[in-house]
Amino acid sequence: MESVLSTTASPIASTLGKGIREQLFRPELVLLPQVNEVYELELAFYESQLLSEEELIRNGAYFARVGDSFTRHFLICSGKPVKLPDYSSSRLRAFFKTNQFKTGYATHGLFPYRGKFHPQMIKGLLNAMGLRPDDSVLDPMMGSGTVLIEASQMGITSAGLDSSPFCRFMASAKLSALSLSCDPLQEALKHPEVVFKHFQKLSPSAGPDKGNGKDGYSASLFSVAEKGRSSGKIPDLLKPARIHDFLLLAYLDSAGYALRSTRKSPEEQFAAILERYVFVVEKFQKAAAAFGIDLAKAEALEGDARAMPFEDESFDGIVFSPPYSFAIDYLENDLHHLNYMGTDVTALREKMVGLRGKTKKQKYENYNSDMALVIRECSRVLKPGRICSIVVGTNNNQIGNLLGIPPEEVRGIDDLLLQLGSESGLKLVRRIERQIVGMANTMRTEFILMLAKQD
Ligand SMILES: C[S@@+](CC[C@H](N)C(=O)[O-])C[C@H]1O[C@@H](n2cnc3c(N)ncnc32)[C@H](O)[C@@H]1O
Repeated sequence: MESVLSTTASPIASTLGKGIREQLFRPELVLLPQVNEVYELELAFYESQLLSEEELIRNGAYFARVGDSFTRHFLICSGKPVKLPDYSSSRLRAFFKTNQFKTGYATHGLFPYRGKFHPQMIKGLLNAMGLRPDDSVLDPMMGSGTVLIEASQMGITSAGLDSSPFCRFMASAKLSALSLSCDPLQEALKHPEVVFKHFQKLSPSAGPDKGNGKDGYSASLFSVAEKGRSSGKIPDLLKPARIHDFLLLAYLDSAGYALRSTRKSPEEQFAAILERYVFVVEKFQKAAAAFGIDLAKAEALEGDARAMPFEDESFDGIVFSPPYSFAIDYLENDLHHLNYMGTDVTALREKMVGLRGKTKKQKYENYNSDMALVIRECSRVLKPGRICSIVVGTNNNQIGNLLGIPPEEVRGIDDLLLQLGSESGLKLVRRIERQIVGMANTMRTEFILMLAKQD
């Protein structure tokens, strides 16, 4: 008997003959592995439309090859993703492998900051926003500095703000690790116990925070770092500020692990984390030298997004993710590190969007009025015609409980930001939906809102 397919062969066969990827992309564009989600295909599609072949090879986020040429993104992510200690679980190993092209490159993997961006998505977004080398971008709530690290490798000048001095410290240390000299780090690896004890003894000793100190350090961290560098207890090679900050970041990372897990002693954790950190720096620097990556200027500052220290119309783009109302208490999460630096956490809480207020109701109300100020500032510092992208989700269950309404009736934070944007001259050009995967909480979706500043 003749099959159904053969009688109607041409329309069915021709429809089935081309997958979604072939429909979207020219044959010479080969996607990276694991580009599976709709939002990723959407950003990849914008890249394929907006970038020349040369630009795709240099700065594209989602392609492995353009014709016969491998992209930089493919090359910097290739090879062993990370150096893990032998006792690491197979789950952790699988995580790094799966995320090799999404998060596991440059210095993004240093320090597990909660709520940080997927760097590959940021790269795709910067491209879709029309930002090109020598343009400038701002992240007014930079957290761990993902936007700055990504922009810097792409030749885009960047600035970041965060009200937490710990974020400023973490973002600067990760940025400067992109070009850190590896010899002193090898020296540190020979004596992890000396380095560990050095930092253990420095804390908590800095006294209350007195605002901004020298070189943009918060005063308290400056005194920790200063004291550490003048101590005779570590080799001179490890005293330069950038090296010392890098080692301190690894120390704080290990202290955070030690609070969450008792499987290994803090010293053992520190040695393993330091080895991983040094591996990351060496891997990136080999790639940067091989592909001639010139890092663009990036500045991580401590400051308040509600009152930004920038001139009007000074940036070609803005990308940020605000706290999702009061969903995460960033100060509680970083308490150990802030205490280590001697930060006055009670005073800092008053500057934190989402954390101001005694009751949840007050926090929610303050969040709404604080975000109005942030959005107004974004509009002020953005050049006309350029784009401000905001990544945001809504903690519907928590807010629903608070307001006494079902979660599905809670107004999305994306909706609030769109209204605030339109009141400040920022108009929606694209809303991209993204599923949040692998989280144990109930937040399932977040949005990338792309708003253009009206001329
Ligand atoms: C969702 S996190 C950003 C994470 C970041 N996108 C990353 O990749 O690491 C939100 C950040 O907003 C910061 N923040 C809260 N209130 C702020 C304010 N008034 N000014 C600047 N930053 C603030 C918090 O400290 C936190 O780091």
